[in-house]
Amino acid sequence: MKSQAITGNFQEANVDAIAVAVFKDEKTTAPFLKELDKTTGGLIAGIFKDEDFKGDAGETALVRFAAGKGKPSRVLLIGVGKKEDYKVPAVGVLAGTAVRFLLKRNITSFVLVPRSEADAGEVAQVAMQSVITSQYGVDKYKTKDKNEKVVENFVLCVDGADAGALKSGLNRGEIVGESMNFTRDMCNEPANILHPTEMAKRAEKMAKETGLKCEILDEAKMKKLGMGSLLSVSIGSEQPPKMIVLKYEPKKSTGKKGELLAIVGKGVCFDTGGISLKPAEGMDAMKHDMTGGGTVIGTMRAIALLKPSIPVIGVVAAVENMPSGKATRPGDVVTAMNGKTIEVLNTDAEGRLILADAVAYAEKEGATTIVDMATLTGAVIIALGDLNTAVLGNDQDLINTIIECGKEVGEDYWQLPVGPGYSRQIKSDIADIKNIGAPRKAGTIAGAVFIQEFVDKAKWAHLDIAGTAWADDIKPHQGKGPTGVCIRTLLRMIEKSQ
Ligand code: BES
Ligand code: MN
Ligand code: ZN
Repeated sequence: MKSQAITGNFQEANVDAIAVAVFKDEKTTAPFLKELDKTTGGLIAGIFKDEDFKGDAGETALVRFAAGKGKPSRVLLIGVGKKEDYKVPAVGVLAGTAVRFLLKRNITSFVLVPRSEADAGEVAQVAMQSVITSQYGVDKYKTKDKNEKVVENFVLCVDGADAGALKSGLNRGEIVGESMNFTRDMCNEPANILHPTEMAKRAEKMAKETGLKCEILDEAKMKKLGMGSLLSVSIGSEQPPKMIVLKYEPKKSTGKKGELLAIVGKGVCFDTGGISLKPAEGMDAMKHDMTGGGTVIGTMRAIALLKPSIPVIGVVAAVENMPSGKATRPGDVVTAMNGKTIEVLNTDAEGRLILADAVAYAEKEGATTIVDMATLTGAVIIALGDLNTAVLGNDQDLINTIIECGKEVGEDYWQLPVGPGYSRQIKSDIADIKNIGAPRKAGTIAGAVFIQEFVDKAKWAHLDIAGTAWADDIKPHQGKGPTGVCIRTLLRMIEKSQ
């Protein structure tokens, strides 16, 4: 894809279409639309009148007109709602909507006129990211009927902006968008292809290409470290477990000495439930139970290329959860790396078992702040659906930062509580703790307070993405399938803490 930023004269751009944001109840008498209306010979005024186009968020209308050679001959009007509600994330929705609308009609080159008054670099970044992520599709394994249309030429026009700021924004947006798609590709892979060994291979290859340090801990190493909790999950599988450790070190750090952020992910490449076997219906969805891990790898890719000035470490616990003659049984007791004993009462509550050792390892590696991501509980889907990621943790400032950064990038988080009352519910009769809480009560919180048992002094937040990792419905700006959720929030958080 060719991309370019211009600072005016979009009607002269050498593309097929102009995609413009239209505010709610904006009249064609507004100077901007008046000019466009003139170009189209009054067709835009007609749309407002005849089709009752009001500029509500998500409304679209396409106008075709006669234009000079090499000039755009279509205008796509995209409603963005009230001007005062039009924030940077909405520019992403706008760009993605334009891409998907135009590609469906075989239009592969366009100029986007977002008309946002926000920082031009940010506008460029979010527009570019969305142009890339909106084209993502899940048809990799189709041999026919593949959707092969892609944007060939993307031009962004921000009137009067600084050209350098726009250009670097486009570059950053490309990094973020491609990193999100990198993660989404892993999530979409079936489990016969993306097992822990393959996941580790992809992380290693990415690390080599981007200059990150990468270490893969194998089963023997994990045994030596005493990761009995993680190993109790992988023991039933023919696929060996891998702990993927990625390290980013800035040339010159501006962070406080001794501070280290760790992002930690659940990488269950397939979750059958183990001996506590899941029902057949919908089990195929458990190929994306590695989304937390995939998110860590994609975020580390973006970090390596964006080069923030603070160090970050990424830890992924990659395993497969299978039933077999060697598998962990309900009632088994295992010992985690930090010495705590766990009664495994349900082998389907495996995410917390692998994260227990992963967060303990991150802290042992020097992490002072830990954010873990996991498709941990079905309960979070009941509570929040696919619109909010649950956030829980031991540090309110960290949680507030995540919620705030989420707002700024257009990802929603909702905090759930933790506390001694909930922690009591995971006490075991025969071991230190058990891996499930009270039956049918606060399942998402039970998962979080379990992981908390393995955090020592670090500030910690847990993001349960079971509801937000995968989109069941097509949106105007985003296809079905893996969403790449949390990556932008984490990157924002890192950007702000430099
Ligand atoms: N991977 C699942 C959670 C999940 C469900 C993710 C649906 C995405 C969509 C997790 O390992 C699991 O099985 N959790 C159990 C925990 C229970 C046994 C305490 C659940 O939520 O039912
Ligand atoms: Mn499970
Ligand atoms: Zn799982």
